[in-house]
Formats: sequence, C-alpha cells, structure tokens
Amino acid sequence: MTDTAAAPWWRHAVTYQVYPRSFADANGDGIGDLPGITSRLPYLRDLGVDALWISPFYTSPQKDHGYDVADYRDVDPLFGSLADADALIARAHELGLRLIVDLVPNHTSSEHEWFKAALAAPPGSPERARYLFRDGRGPNGDEPPNNWRSVFGGSAWTRVPDHSTGSGQGGQWYLHLFDSSQPDLDWRNPEVGDMFEDVLRFWLDRGVDGFRIDVAHGLLKEESLRDQVVPDGVDPSSDASAMIERALTDEPMWDQPEVHDVYRRWRRVLEEYPGDRILVAEAWTQTAVSLARYVRPDEMHQAFNFAWLLAPWSAKAFAEVITGTLEELSDVKASPTWVLSNHDVIRHATRYGGGALGLARARAATVAMLALPGSAYVYQGEELGLEQVEVAPDQRQDPTWLRTRNTAAPEEGRDGCRIPIPWSGTEPPYGFGPGEGQPWLPQPASWGGLTVAAQTGDPDSTLELYRRALDARRRHAGTDRGDTVEILDEGHQVLAFRRGGLTVVLNCGEEPVELPAGEVVLSSEPLDGATLPANASAWLV
Ligand code: GLC
Repeated sequence: MTDTAAAPWWRHAVTYQVYPRSFADANGDGIGDLPGITSRLPYLRDLGVDALWISPFYTSPQKDHGYDVADYRDVDPLFGSLADADALIARAHELGLRLIVDLVPNHTSSEHEWFKAALAAPPGSPERARYLFRDGRGPNGDEPPNNWRSVFGGSAWTRVPDHSTGSGQGGQWYLHLFDSSQPDLDWRNPEVGDMFEDVLRFWLDRGVDGFRIDVAHGLLKEESLRDQVVPDGVDPSSDASAMIERALTDEPMWDQPEVHDVYRRWRRVLEEYPGDRILVAEAWTQTAVSLARYVRPDEMHQAFNFAWLLAPWSAKAFAEVITGTLEELSDVKASPTWVLSNHDVIRHATRYGGGALGLARARAATVAMLALPGSAYVYQGEELGLEQVEVAPDQRQDPTWLRTRNTAAPEEGRDGCRIPIPWSGTEPPYGFGPGEGQPWLPQPASWGGLTVAAQTGDPDSTLELYRRALDARRRHAGTDRGDTVEILDEGHQVLAFRRGGLTVVLNCGEEPVELPAGEVVLSSEPLDGATLPANASAWLV
C-alpha cells in the first residue's frame, strides 16, 4: 500500500458515530433529531473529527430504534424531514465534515409496504418472494422451518395467519434474524438488489459521502436454509448475542460467498459519483481473513475491525490484533480501521473495569488507537468518558431485552450505551434538549461533572484529552507516517510500537514503566518525567 499526500480522506479519517435518538434534541420531545445534530456540528468540527456517521433516521416504527426501516427514502417525523436531512448534509460540508449514513439492507421493518403486501398475498406470490417465507415443519407445519435463533433471542421464525382464512395461525413462517418486526429480505430475488441500488442513488444524489452497511455479512443465507449444526452441550437458546459471542461456528445464515456480488455492484454505483464516497461494512465475521474479503479492491472501502474492540485489556492481545489486522488487510490492499465502542456494545470505559481504572484504561487505549494507520471510529459520548449506564428493567427499550426478559437467559440489552448526551447544566436533561426532566432513556443524576460544558477548558478532562489527541494525530500520526507498524514490545505488561518516527507505549501492566528517549507529544495521563504510570499511554517523537 502506498501513502501519498493525496490519499483519499477516508484512509485516515476519524469518524464520529451519532446515534440520533440520543445526540441532541432540538424540538424538546426528549428524543434527539436532525436539527439537533445540525446545531451541534460546530462541536464536532472543534473536537477535530473528519466525518460523522449517523445511525438510521428513516421512517420507522422504532422497534429497533431505526434499524427497522419502513421507508428508506424518507426521514421519520421523529427526527425531522428530508429538508432537515438536506440542511444537515449541507451544513456538515460547509464545516468541512463528511457525512456517512446508515443503510439497512438485511431486513426491512414489518411496516414496509413490501412486507404489508407480502402478508396480504398468498404463499408462492411475487410479494412473498421478496422475503423468506417458508412452510413449517411437523404436523400441520406447526414447527419453524429450521432451528435458527434470532440474534435478539428466541426463534428466528414467526408464523403468519393462514392466508385463505386470514384468522389465527396456520400459515407460513417468515425469517427474521433479528426482531420479528424486522423480516429478512431474500437477496436472491433481483427486485431486492434493484430497490437498494435506487436507495443508494437517492442518498448519493443528496450528497452523502458514504454508507455504513448494517449486518453486511447477513444478506445472503445458504440457499437450502438448512439447520444450523449445534454441537452437543451447547444450548442455542442461551445464544442471544449470536453475532458477537459466536458460541456456534456453523453459520449457514452468515457470511455466504454470494454476498460479495452485492458489494461489487454497489462499488460500481459509488464510482459513478464524484468525490471519494465510501462503503463501510458492519460484518461480524469469524476471522480476520473472512473480514478482509469485504474490503477487496472492488468491494467496500472499510470494515469495522471488531477484533480491536473485543480484545481484552492485554498488551499481547492488542499486539496480536494489530499484527493480524495489518497482515490480512495488506493481502487485499485495504487500509485498517479501529474502533472501541458503538451503539451495540458495552462502553469501553466499563468493559475495561469501570470507575477510575476503567476510564484510565479507556483513555489509554484510545490514545494508542489514534496512532495506528488507517481510520478510527469514535462513538458519541466516549469523548466525555461516559460509562455504560444500568437502566432499570421497566425503562429498558432494546428488543433484545423485550424478547429475552421472560426466558431462562434474560439479556439486559444495549440501552445502557445509548443514554442521551449531557451537554450542560447540573441535572437532566443536561442541555440535551429544551424540555425539562428526563429524555427517552433516563440520564444518571451523577452526570453534572461530565457535561461538555463542565469538561471544556479542564485540561484533565477526557474531552480535552480527545481534543488534544485528535490535534496531535493530525500533526504526528498522519498518512506520511506510513502504514507499517513495528511492534517493539508485546510483553504482558507493555505494548510498544513504532510507526514512522512515532513511538507509542501503552502500559497494560500494574507497575509504572520507563519511557524510551524522545519528546512526549501526547499522553493519556499527566506524566512525571519519563515514567509512564500503569493504565496509561504516550506518544513520543
Ligand atoms: C446492527 C446494528 C444494530 C441492529 C442490528 C439489526 O448490528 O448495529 O443496532 O440492532 O444490526 O439491524
């Protein structure tokens, strides 16, 4: 891979993920919206990010908070209007920020006109052929067509009423790898591909700089829809977080070879448009090798590197991810990405132990990450050092919780990383919106010291650390440093690596360590001389 000053923007971008329900609420209904995002764009520019990716804001019954799309070409009134989307895109560009939108092609909402038509049409009809409807097994077809589980818990199949009588059950079943309100499309049907090409063009014409592709590894299923092989002793019903935790390795529902034809087609579409527009894969594949297939030269530009996010707090584990990632990606000539948090996982400050320890480690891992070649993704609120919040059971809204709460293996769900951002003030809604009181998910009473206003200007704050780090990245960790990472130390205690003339040390141990010679240009904690405390990291030139 060559590095030139003219490398496209995305090669080295820091992209900030906005979860629209929880970023900023302009109309005071307690739920974030597009005008709210637009009003806060100067904050993102000043933070120093290059781009934003916005989770879905399209028309949706919000069963999975927008990842259940009823109309791909419109904005849900909850978030505003198409005119608001246009204004957001225009304002972002004025401020020099790129804008990536989220595309959800694996499934539609059950409120999508296609699914409503499918329910109204008989088995075998063209309307049903856009989804995966099948007859059940067993006497009267009472058993689901196969043994697949939903990622959100329970069976991946739901039965519909018999079409001829229209009453009760007794009809066919449809596949939903997620909630029953998210029926999976049949990507072997050409109508589906044509529809999504139109959707891509719709948003490209409006000026977006790219798409984050939801569940990119899921679109095609093994054609037979055969049973998943479940080894003895594994209880598939306790495998609700199937996508992330992978108790099962036989996966006829994920990562099928034909899925790559879809991305080749999309790449060709993007290349008809001016500017460097990109496709970013959310693909939870099993290995770095299979992930690399999504970013071959004629497919997507980037894929989230979840191996980095899943790595435990260990110098050796971090080193292995860096080496493995760079090796696999150089084979396909793609550039890496790094990510520690998003709207589906436990915030990294909490994953690393929570409290002061977890925060120190989160800051240290972020500082180390920002020195690596390629691009980095930052999830809203991590720059404030926010932790996962424990949401009371009666306040939880994630379908994972709703589908598993009455089972033997309840899953708390993802609400705790989706709490609205605290901007200012000393009590909820902390400037999230003009309303009074709690927004759609309650904010902790203890967040007064974590608001953007409270942290601004305080050199010890996590927000100021992110601002310094993003500035230092531009000056000391740009594409001119190259893509080669030389691991200097991957002992149990310390990860040390060199990239170009930049040396990075991340202390994952319990004892302070001596830093090598050089000028410290960034550190995750204040340093006393050349000593790096435990749970801290530093850059030296
Ligand atoms: C992706 C999204 C997640 C969503 C799921 C179903 O994993 O990131 O939030 O629930 O897809 O669309």
